[in-house]
Amino acid sequence: MCGIVGIAGTQEVAPVILEALKRLEYRGYDSAGIATLVDGRIERRRSPGKLSRLDAVLRDEPLPGRTGIGHTRWATHGAPTVINAHPHANARVAIVHNGIIENFRDLRSELLAKGHKFESETDSEVAVHLISDYLDQGLAPEDAAQEAVRRLTGAYSLAMIFRGEESLLIGARKGSPLAVGYGEHEAYLGSDAFALAPFTNRVAYLEDGDVAIVRGNQVSIFDAKGRPANREVVITNASSALVDKAGHRHFMAKEIHEQPEVIGHTLAHYLDAAGPNVALDNDKLSKVLASATRLTISACGTAYYAGLVGKYWFEKLARLPVEIDFASELRYRDPVYPEGGAALFISQSGETADTLAALRDAKANGQTTLALVNVVESSIAREADIVLPIFAGPEIGVASTKAFTCQLAALAALAIAAGRGRGKLSAEDEKRLCTALLEIPRHIVEFLKSEAKIEALGQEVAKARDVLYLGRGPSFPLALEGALKLKEISYVHAEGYAAGEMKHGPIALIDENVPVIVMAPHDGFFEKTVSNMQEVMARGGKVLLISERAGLDRAGTDAWAKIEVPDADAFIAPILYAIPAQLLAYYAAIAKGSDVDQPRNLAKSVTVE
Ligand code: G6P
Repeated sequence: MCGIVGIAGTQEVAPVILEALKRLEYRGYDSAGIATLVDGRIERRRSPGKLSRLDAVLRDEPLPGRTGIGHTRWATHGAPTVINAHPHANARVAIVHNGIIENFRDLRSELLAKGHKFESETDSEVAVHLISDYLDQGLAPEDAAQEAVRRLTGAYSLAMIFRGEESLLIGARKGSPLAVGYGEHEAYLGSDAFALAPFTNRVAYLEDGDVAIVRGNQVSIFDAKGRPANREVVITNASSALVDKAGHRHFMAKEIHEQPEVIGHTLAHYLDAAGPNVALDNDKLSKVLASATRLTISACGTAYYAGLVGKYWFEKLARLPVEIDFASELRYRDPVYPEGGAALFISQSGETADTLAALRDAKANGQTTLALVNVVESSIAREADIVLPIFAGPEIGVASTKAFTCQLAALAALAIAAGRGRGKLSAEDEKRLCTALLEIPRHIVEFLKSEAKIEALGQEVAKARDVLYLGRGPSFPLALEGALKLKEISYVHAEGYAAGEMKHGPIALIDENVPVIVMAPHDGFFEKTVSNMQEVMARGGKVLLISERAGLDRAGTDAWAKIEVPDADAFIAPILYAIPAQLLAYYAAIAKGSDVDQPRNLAKSVTVE
């Protein structure tokens, strides 16, 4: 998943490439590098670690040149060292790559046999030698690049520069995203429109198999068969302003605190507050929700857990059968897609490679595809039949917070719409559920007043080696999400479990050192969840009970600690309970001193399988 920028420019490009890379750091921050043409020769600067380290390298050793490429890396093949950092280069060509070249071992053996010398452990470096090999055979850079990419299997987006070829930039895309930016006197390549936003808002997205030849501000695009191709130039809304922390210590804290406002935006799109009722502005969507024979939901990470809550809602409110899979599993189990089925893909970034591939699989199998995304210009949004925006605004912290609750708010509205459309929900119930949804922002504002108490509990949780999260019904996915949040940013081992399943295994882990965080909304599942909690306490377990006032009064007496969630309709509990889970993880991470917004080994957007 790595970020790519390329500029065929009219002034020194290294400083501007560095600025653009900062906008792509969400894709990875293991190492970074820039290559430019200096008097026709390829020169590069690379550094392990975050971009600030590359910045320091460039200050010590500035890199002139008006044509250049840059990269921020999330390691797949080879550790994040200088040698493995991009750009990879020899004297003739330099490349940056995002994706995985699956046939790199075969290509490498072939090229080694021909005398090529490799310096890194990456899959990407084969592209350098493959292109050089074609250059050695006398091909022009444009032809060498096209011949080389035809031999690559797997997923890639590539940007290349060539010795002695001032103002020439070549890009290629298959599987991983790449956009061409059109400037006044310059042209650009970038992983997304957001990276290009400071330069231009005129962007064309390359399609799979495309090769873009940029000469100064002239761009020619060729398709997989080498035929000239026209790719529509669109005006993007991607903002050129860099998002700041608005006075918060971390983006994650800012994003947690933004939730009342952004959930309000999501709800304003899907509901009519006057009814209140669901108000979809898309007839095709209403039809699909009313008549789909089945809904297949697929996503990764936090978005997957949002989908899991969605399953409970669609089945309960609309009696719409739902299948849900991790996107990385869906197409590999050769699923049976029903006739008349719809498939919903949930993704904050809209670029997750597994989710995109799952969408393509469902589409190829006749499903109507829906994309619930935050980034509406993303690949997943562009390829889906119906786009469902969540309006969370840019989410920068790697651990997803506001995108999760906005996804839930949208899913709740869609499940109500499906319930109405399928005749399973009365107008009165619709009104009750929509009223509950509209109260979410107010409840979150109220809840955030107890932040100091959660900070203290987070510090306690940080001392544990293992933590269990339990929940039942729609709170089960919240237990999974709570555990994911904690491990992602504090590195404390955590597991989420269905409360009733605990006695079939995890109960063996219980002792006085393992905090067990029980998410128990005072709903129809409450008594059963409390029984499971008693089983933990009977074994000396340390319970942190999260519930409303009534739940805490009824069952909280022997708990080690308690968090009170505002009293609200149980329907919206998954959204409200996400907030204590986020805050506990956030404060545990601070207590552990970890890098909250850019935790080790993770990336915000994962564009490799
Ligand atoms: C990465 C992020 C997670 C995110 C997941 C899916 O693993 O670290 O926070 O939930 O990708 O991302 P998406 O953009 O598809 O929602």
